[in-house]
Amino acid sequence: MSNLTRRRKLEHIDIVVKENVEPTATTLLESIVLCHNASPDLDFNEIDTSIEFLGKRINAPIMIEAMTGGHPDTATINKALAEIAEEIGIPIGVGSQRAAIEDKSLEYTFSIVREKAQSIPVIANIGGAQIVKGYTAKELLKAISMVKADAIAIHLNPAQEVFQPEGDKNFSKLVDLVSVLVDELPVPVIIKETGNGLLGRVARMYAEIGVEYFDVSGLGGTNWVIIEGIRSSNPVIKDLSKEFSTWGIPTAIAIIDVLYQVPSATIIASGGIRTSLDVSKAIALGANIVGIAGPIIKLLLTKGKDEVKKYINKLVTGLKISMFLTSSKKPYDLWCKQLVISNNVEEWLKSLDIDVREYMELRCLRRKQLISG
Ligand SMILES: Cc1cc2nc3c(=O)[nH]c(=O)nc-3n(C[C@H](O)[C@H](O)[C@H](O)COP(=O)(O)O)c2cc1C
Repeated sequence: MSNLTRRRKLEHIDIVVKENVEPTATTLLESIVLCHNASPDLDFNEIDTSIEFLGKRINAPIMIEAMTGGHPDTATINKALAEIAEEIGIPIGVGSQRAAIEDKSLEYTFSIVREKAQSIPVIANIGGAQIVKGYTAKELLKAISMVKADAIAIHLNPAQEVFQPEGDKNFSKLVDLVSVLVDELPVPVIIKETGNGLLGRVARMYAEIGVEYFDVSGLGGTNWVIIEGIRSSNPVIKDLSKEFSTWGIPTAIAIIDVLYQVPSATIIASGGIRTSLDVSKAIALGANIVGIAGPIIKLLLTKGKDEVKKYINKLVTGLKISMFLTSSKKPYDLWCKQLVISNNVEEWLKSLDIDVREYMELRCLRRKQLISG
């Protein structure tokens, strides 16, 4: 791993913290309304936000998304994030582990996460482009054991790579390569986007080779086309990055489409999840859990650990309020509650050939299957 690649990690964090890296396009969660229930059949104090995820009980359906590691300066960030996740009792992902796979001396920048977060799910991370370049089960097993991972995310970031001068721009035959890995790895594989969104048909290709977990990481939050545009000194790339800054599948659409195409999928909804209403709407659309990256690292580096804890705890309180006002005792009760879908979302669903009634039934069926299973 070159110094340039290592330094890039710090540059990325610096840009995320200091600049506006979100597109004008939104997640479209604002076009989803949860219907108010004037007579909830429960006591607010009975509401239980805990769920089972990757074989472990967690306190809320919220996770800290994959972000960092791989440069000595990132170890303190990962340590703080892991302590927060362990204290609140929610999962955490680490950033791409390529740096430590290629240079053992950097392993501690990732392994600190498992040291500080013993009881919660930890998710390893590797780029799909690295698999095309030759990573096999051997490298992925290294990444898994480095953090004693409960799952490994394979991230798909073609929009970022194509805007990065030094980017890996070959993603060919990745599905075939992943199909071998799914059988060889001891933990589940998560197919994960990084902010441009997973389409249901893409998820289905991976579901057909045995992948069950999908992190949709949709459009509307941290945007790597914008970040690479800021980093670039090439005026053509800068201009094109502006043009492509709204490219992608909005998070709300990605959740619906992945569920519609792969009804059995476990869905992580990330990309622009910012408020407690984003959390409850994403879960109500059918996600099992939501993930947040940008705001967490921004808060950590500008205001400190306590503010991150306060932010996540506020999301949990807000989720509880939505659950109360929809008469949902547990998060997945939201899957059967009435939703209003309006504006552009309807247009997207029409174009993607999604039958809304069938989608609503699939969503509720998931809860029934979960309860009976
Ligand atoms: C500083 C930073 C670094 C990231 N690094 C990775 C990474 O190494 N691997 C990955 O899968 N996703 C990475 N992501 C993407 C996030 O995991 C997430 O999918 C995306 O930022 C959307 O969530 P957000 O809008 O809440 O930030 C990174 C995000 C940020 C902000």
